[in-house]
Amino acid sequence: MSRRKIIIAIDGYSSCGKSTLAKELAVKLGYNYIDSGAMYRAITLYFLRNSVDFSDHSKVLDALANINLSFVFNEHRGASDIYLNDENAEPYIRDMIVSEKVSQVAAIKEVRSFAVAQQKRMGRKKGIVMDGRDIGTAVFPDAELKLFMTAAPEVRVVRRFKELYETNPEITIDEVRHNLELRDYIDSTREESPLHQAADAVVLDNSGLTREEQLEFVMRLVDKNLSPALSEGEGGVA
Ligand code: CDP
Repeated sequence: MSRRKIIIAIDGYSSCGKSTLAKELAVKLGYNYIDSGAMYRAITLYFLRNSVDFSDHSKVLDALANINLSFVFNEHRGASDIYLNDENAEPYIRDMIVSEKVSQVAAIKEVRSFAVAQQKRMGRKKGIVMDGRDIGTAVFPDAELKLFMTAAPEVRVVRRFKELYETNPEITIDEVRHNLELRDYIDSTREESPLHQAADAVVLDNSGLTREEQLEFVMRLVDKNLSPALSEGEGGVA
C-alpha cells in the first residue's frame, strides 16, 4: 500500500542548514525538494542583469512578465537546478552580488505574489519538501509538517563562509557575517510575509546536531505524522 503524501515546510534564518535537511528528507521520502530561495535569487539575477529599477513597481511588473522559472532535477547534485528562461541559473544565483540584493527584491509585493503563486502550484500533488522564509506561514499554511530551523549566528556564518570559500577564496568572513545579518534583518522586518515561526511549527536548533541526528529527529516527526494512531499508542516520540 502506498503511503499518504504530505507537505513538509521548512523555514528559518539564512544559512541554518534548511536546504541540506530538505534535500536529505526528499531523497529519503521520494519527494520533490524545492528551494524557494533559488526563485528569489533567480529573479534578482534577472533584475541585476537587466538593470531593472526595482523601486519602480511598474518596471518590476514588466520584468516579471519576461521571467519564466522552472526546476530541472540534476542527478549529480541530487537536487533540482533552477532555470531562468531556459538558462541554468544555478552557477550564478549564490554569488555575493545576488546575495547583496536578494532580500530587497524578495520584499517587493509583486515579486512575492509571482513566486508564491508558482510555489503553491508545485505543492498541489503534495509529496514535496520546500524550504524558505514563509513556507509554513504563507505558501502552505496547511502543511502537515512545519519546521522552524535555527542555529547559533556564528555557526551559520562559519558554515556559509566555508561553502562560499570553495568557489571564491577572496571572500572574507566579515563580508559573509554582514550579509547574513542584513538579510535576516530585512527578511524578518519586511511588511510582506516576514520570516516568523508558524504557531504550529516544530523548532529545530541544529547548532549541536550532526546531519544524521537532525535527519533522524525529523524522520520521527514524519513517521508520527504519517501514522498518528501508531505513534500515539507508542506513548509519543520526539
Ligand atoms: O540559503 P540562504 O538561507 O542563505 O538563503 P535562500 O534560501 O537562498 O534565500 C535567499 C533570500 O531569498 C532570503 O534571504 C530571502 O530574502 C528570500 N526568500 C524569501 O523571501 N522567501 C522565501 N520563501 C525564500 C527566500
